[in-house]
Amino acid sequence: MNPVYVALDTTDLDCARGLAERLRGSVGGLKLGLEFFSAHGPEGVRAFSQMDIPIFLDLKFHDIPNTVAGACRAAASLGVSIINVHACGGPAMLKAAGEAARGVNPAVKVIAVTVLTSLNQADLQAAGVSGTPGDQVLRLAQLTKANGLDGVVCSAHEIAPLRAALGKDFMLVVPGIRPAGADLNDQSRVMTPPEAHKAGVDILVIGRPITAAPDPVQAARDIAQSLGF
Ligand code: C5P
Repeated sequence: MNPVYVALDTTDLDCARGLAERLRGSVGGLKLGLEFFSAHGPEGVRAFSQMDIPIFLDLKFHDIPNTVAGACRAAASLGVSIINVHACGGPAMLKAAGEAARGVNPAVKVIAVTVLTSLNQADLQAAGVSGTPGDQVLRLAQLTKANGLDGVVCSAHEIAPLRAALGKDFMLVVPGIRPAGADLNDQSRVMTPPEAHKAGVDILVIGRPITAAPDPVQAARDIAQSLGF
């Protein structure tokens, strides 16, 4: 299956739907995030769930276990394939998230954000976290697995150590992917699609290299072809 999920980061519903219609044959899934959800809510998500393409609803829940459980129950009932929470919400929250989501949709994958790729070591230290981002990502990924969730969002540079430590059945979802020569935008630690694929990633989240390309369908096809799809 094509591992590329295109990030539809916009508040414009018609634009998002139009892109999704055009791209659905050239990508493996769609990612809808906070920007889209804050503008269009559950109705906006339902507008895509009839398109017969997997949807990753990237809302990164982080709250007390009872509240996150309720949010996961609601999100998992929207016909999406993947939802997520922040791993630093702690063991009880992770466990509650997985149980609640699977209670309404046994097939939904619940994954956790480890360390945001926008944070560096100084940012972690300022928040009281010692050690490197890599150490913290591994610690949070192990916590995620121990509490029954399906995988994590991580940076491309953490794929190899996480795969080695957590095994092949743990889902690794990676943003910050840039085809060779593409604009980096605000991403700093990037990898090309074939490099990330080879390192063992399950899902590559790619936004602007597809959505901002002069021909988004061609850009998506070129990426799929570079991965052998
Ligand atoms: O346009 P671009 O390819 O940079 O989009 C990457 C997508 O992945 C965006 O939707 C962004 O919010 C998301 N993301 C990220 N870094 C993370 C988690 C999510 O870039 N650590």
